[in-house]
Amino acid sequence: MSTLSNQAAWIPAKGQAMTVSAAPMPQPGVGEILVRSRAIALNPFDGVVQTLGGMVTPWLTYPAILGSDVTGEVVAVGASVSRFKPGDRVLGLALGVDKLANRASEGAFQHYVILRQDATTAIPDGMSFQRAAVLPLAVATAACGLFLDDQLGLRMPTAERPEPKSQAVLIWGGSTSVGSAAIQLAAAAGYEVVTTASPRNFDYVRGLGASQVFDYNDANVVETIVKSLGNRDMAGALAIAAGSGASCIEIMSRCQGQRIVSMASSPLPIDDAPLTNQLFWKLTHLPRLAAGFVALAISACLKGVSIRSIWGTALMKGPLGKQIFNDHLGPALASGRFVPAPEPLVAGHGLNAIPEALALLRRGVSARKVVVSL
Ligand SMILES: NC(=O)c1ccc[n+]([C@@H]2O[C@H](COP(=O)([O-])OP(=O)(O)OC[C@H]3O[C@@H](n4cnc5c(N)ncnc54)[C@H](OP(=O)(O)O)[C@@H]3O)[C@@H](O)[C@H]2O)c1
Repeated sequence: MSTLSNQAAWIPAKGQAMTVSAAPMPQPGVGEILVRSRAIALNPFDGVVQTLGGMVTPWLTYPAILGSDVTGEVVAVGASVSRFKPGDRVLGLALGVDKLANRASEGAFQHYVILRQDATTAIPDGMSFQRAAVLPLAVATAACGLFLDDQLGLRMPTAERPEPKSQAVLIWGGSTSVGSAAIQLAAAAGYEVVTTASPRNFDYVRGLGASQVFDYNDANVVETIVKSLGNRDMAGALAIAAGSGASCIEIMSRCQGQRIVSMASSPLPIDDAPLTNQLFWKLTHLPRLAAGFVALAISACLKGVSIRSIWGTALMKGPLGKQIFNDHLGPALASGRFVPAPEPLVAGHGLNAIPEALALLRRGVSARKVVVSL
């Protein structure tokens, strides 16, 4: 290991552009593994932390290494690591930007990265690093929204055949990366999944386990979903995609069952903030964003719906992280009960490809996950 050298895509200071340069070779501590990264995936959050880090991750120390999604080979393991050994192919949720880690050695955008064994899953033989890289943050965020007690609090998926579908869950944004994981997790837990997507992705979301899908671009979509659900006993709604909270609140207020909306996204998009000269963007967007949150809270209160915001790494604070990454995902991937979705869109190779890959993601994708191979 002493002959290896590391490189990273650094953010030198708040609001600065990424630069690729040498990085220390991290050493795995207790419960940690050192991974040679082979593919990383990009998330909207990566761009938001880069541009609005002072607001969304005020704790982050600089220079920082961003990125949540890693796949690669285990190089070394720390004390108390029993589930992995050097040479294993793994996927993992990198926690470097998260408050609970806040250290560059756990940021995904580098060649050698520290992963926590409880946030790591073995990749089955025959599954490429690029395909598996679409999963970590999407699965974590979906699991937080569906299963945490302070979110929808649904029962967990099991390896056995799910129980009869006594309740349904609405997953708004089924063709997003988060939605693709949420549909599969909720269906595996025995819930009927009702979702939204553009018509070009109807077959895609049905293939993941949704039983009904509606076009969110349709002006009457809320009425159509309410009518279709009728007296169905609902377990709640997962609102994915900016602005989806209001529609989910309206639908849940007119349904039977648990009137909870777990929101993964803000009322307005925030991933379009410029890196420099932000004053105009902030003056025009932040008041509307604040007003959007207030309007959601008032609307939910008046309609008798409870709303919660999802923080996609919150599962690592309790047993859910281990249950998902150690117990559920590995066997489910190996048996084909859970598939990596959406398809990766490989935007380039090497750390220098990350800024353009982020720009590609910002321009918008449809049922694809932007990935960079390393
Ligand atoms: N809270 C957290 O911790 C956390 C973590 C991860 C992600 N997120 C948020 O979750 C959202 C999804 O992230 P992602 O990475 O999964 O996104 P993504 O895969 O990049 O999203 C692309 C998809 O968004 C769909 N879409 C766009 N607008 C929509 C709308 N109004 N309603 C429903 N679907 C819509 C598109 O569907 P069609 O092509 O079918 O039209 C497209 O397939 C983002 O807002 C992201 O910031 C939050």
